[in-house]
Amino acid sequence: MTDVPEHIAIIMDGNGRWAKSRFLNKAAGHRAGAQALRRLAVEAEKIGVKILTVYAFSTENWRRPKDEVDTLMDLIHDYIQQYIDDSKKNDMRIRMIGDLSRLSAELRRKIDDLLEMTKDKKGMSVVIALNYGGRDDIVRAARKLAADVKGGRKTLNEVDEKLFASYLDTADMPDPDLLIRTSGEMRISNFLLWQTAYTEIYYCDKLWPDFTIKDLEKAIGQYQQRNRRYGGRNE
Ligand code: IPE
Ligand code: IPE
Ligand code: MG
Repeated sequence: MTDVPEHIAIIMDGNGRWAKSRFLNKAAGHRAGAQALRRLAVEAEKIGVKILTVYAFSTENWRRPKDEVDTLMDLIHDYIQQYIDDSKKNDMRIRMIGDLSRLSAELRRKIDDLLEMTKDKKGMSVVIALNYGGRDDIVRAARKLAADVKGGRKTLNEVDEKLFASYLDTADMPDPDLLIRTSGEMRISNFLLWQTAYTEIYYCDKLWPDFTIKDLEKAIGQYQQRNRRYGGRNE
């Protein structure tokens, strides 16, 4: 495939409805969702995607019933373990965005292991947004920047968009070219607010566990028809 967007972000939505439609519990839906991601990441790398950023757990998802949150955290733990096991075979680099300080010490240790093991990999980066909120990202960046100004390490005059962006969790990544949301929902739900200023958005009715490489290729096909102007003119 040619002209593949370098950075694709996905709001993986619809696990709950997928489970419900099959008379299964939510855990089964989330498990199927995690499998869909594993499959898709391998295929996405093959077609030339360089960065795949996925929304796994939002800062608002803590509002769900405790048993669902616990199930999600357990699944994320298993998912990370699987990646650790797979990392000898594949070349993907795993990165995390979000406030990891709220996660259990055990999960954080696992995550640290995985980040360490894959940090020099040269393949596609899979960026997992965990306890991520776009507003929270911006607020944490503002705090770090304010502390640097207060401490004399930065001056107020230096503060511009480029400097501010370097304080975000996505500091050294390009902005997403394409944002996909599954399950027919048409909202950002506090995902990459700063970073999607000029991202092309694609909504798709499929529920996340049913989303395949064919659907991704369809989204990319649409993306290729778009005229990205960034506020200017392409005449
Ligand atoms: C997305 O699926 C996964 C997470 C938010 C963690 P949902 O659980 O939101 O699925 P629906 O929206 O209830 O169908
Ligand atoms: C967004 O989905 C978060 C993730 C996919 C992790 P939600 O299901 O939480 O979003 P809302 O509540 O429908 O906006
Ligand atoms: Mg949802």
